[in-house]
Amino acid sequence: MNVVLLPGDGIGPEVVAEAARVLSVVEPGLTLAEHAIGAAAIDAFGDPLPDATLQACRTADAILMGAVGAGDYAWSARNPEDGMFALRRELDVYANLRPSTGDGIDLMIVRELVGGLYFGARGTRPDGTVFDTCEYHPDQVRRVVRKGFELARARSGRLTSVDKANVLATSRMWRGVADDLSAEFPDVTLDHLLVDTAAMRMVQDPAQFDVIVTENTFGDILSDIAAALTGGLGEAASACLSDSGPGLFEPVHGTAPDIAGRGVANPTATIRSAALLLEHGLGNPEAARRLDAALDRVTAQGGTPDQGGTWTTAQVGDALIADLAADKEVGGVGA
Ligand code: IPM
Ligand code: MG
Repeated sequence: MNVVLLPGDGIGPEVVAEAARVLSVVEPGLTLAEHAIGAAAIDAFGDPLPDATLQACRTADAILMGAVGAGDYAWSARNPEDGMFALRRELDVYANLRPSTGDGIDLMIVRELVGGLYFGARGTRPDGTVFDTCEYHPDQVRRVVRKGFELARARSGRLTSVDKANVLATSRMWRGVADDLSAEFPDVTLDHLLVDTAAMRMVQDPAQFDVIVTENTFGDILSDIAAALTGGLGEAASACLSDSGPGLFEPVHGTAPDIAGRGVANPTATIRSAALLLEHGLGNPEAARRLDAALDRVTAQGGTPDQGGTWTTAQVGDALIADLAADKEVGGVGA
């Protein structure tokens, strides 16, 4: 199995390095190949998504990405983030699964990732007006809402579709598509919620939600709220899935330029993303469980400064590798 590593910018290389070490221990047969994306790729190749990176990703079994973006790049026609958007779109990873667990919360946000406000027409009119548009074809909505139904069916049987149907035409279409699809999933209860109400209820009582499916921008915002309610962005992982090609696995957090290069970034979100990669990308849920269980045990012992601990990024990796070795010794599930 081939896994492409895209460290990216800021703390990306630091957290991906630890996730890569751990992946090699959990799944020793993996071939890991590193490629450039984002500001690092602009610096080295003049392109936020070089051809070599895209080709390597297309032929990989799965991709692990760190974070993309750099504060010292003034926003222009060509941003580091464009590399990530182009990659998401080229791989057609339309379903972004963002799980949040803890404190009685077990929530799965399914964020549409290759359409909506992020990918609609944008520009500047002659009078100086600037516009971004939210656009969806019903087929784009159907495939991601279907993913939401399938996940809900495998979990508690409840799906909440979040939109802004009292204002937006795309949301009214989205609602209709979801209602039509619900006929195919009689075992799943579908609810609709306006995004402002969803944000309020998520803060007030997040345990009421199971699977949420929503537009790209709404999902971006709601997943940060969900992360904040369950351990923060340092722990939030995500899986970006298509129907056929390789999945893209990435932490929800950004490049954290304030702590980049100091070796203290929390690698938890990227390691959790590596667990999602094992499960959804390589079809090895057993290895994913083993990694998640080891990380749970290690997190109980210590962590990085943002977790109230004193460990460096590398010490988290060290502790995890030691734990995995001990687990194997005593004949744990993975031995
Ligand atoms: C995320 C991030 C990105 C996004 C940023 C870095 C462009 O916030 O993955 O949630 O908005 O998609
Ligand atoms: Mg975000």
